[in-house]
Amino acid sequence: MNHADHVRLLRGGVPAPGGVWADFGSGEGAFTLALADLLGTSGEIYSVDQDAGALRAACEETFRVRAEHPWPPPIALPAQWEKSFGALATGLELSTTTLPDAERELRTFLEAIRSAADA
Ligand SMILES: C[S@@+](CC[C@H](N)C(=O)[O-])C[C@H]1O[C@@H](n2cnc3c(N)ncnc32)[C@H](O)[C@@H]1O
Repeated sequence: MNHADHVRLLRGGVPAPGGVWADFGSGEGAFTLALADLLGTSGEIYSVDQDAGALRAACEETFRVRAEHPWPPPIALPAQWEKSFGALATGLELSTTTLPDAERELRTFLEAIRSAADA
């Protein structure tokens, strides 16, 4: 099956562009990418898998197809976000409450995906 087949399979289940969707057990993202085509730029998709190697492949392909940012994406959290991040973290009772810690954790997370072995 190719990308066109994946889009064709999903088309009947997607009533309109946009919305918030999840692809649980997304693997290397074949159906996430098909869904992205059907939802358009107003859609939001959470692509979830326990296999970091599969997620790496999905990220590489998604960033390649969208061609907007390099993979892995550069991380730069503006210092002026510190106050609002702190308030959000407190409100949500996050264990990470400072922007530098959040940036460090994000970098660690991305590095774990970037360096994951093949699925
Ligand atoms: C058969 S593959 C399907 C991949 C993709 N949806 C497709 O159709 O190409 C199933 C995927 O579900 C993932 N998976 C299974 N159990 C899971 C769990 N409890 N949490 C997250 N991912 C899970 C596996 O790692 C695997 O990538």
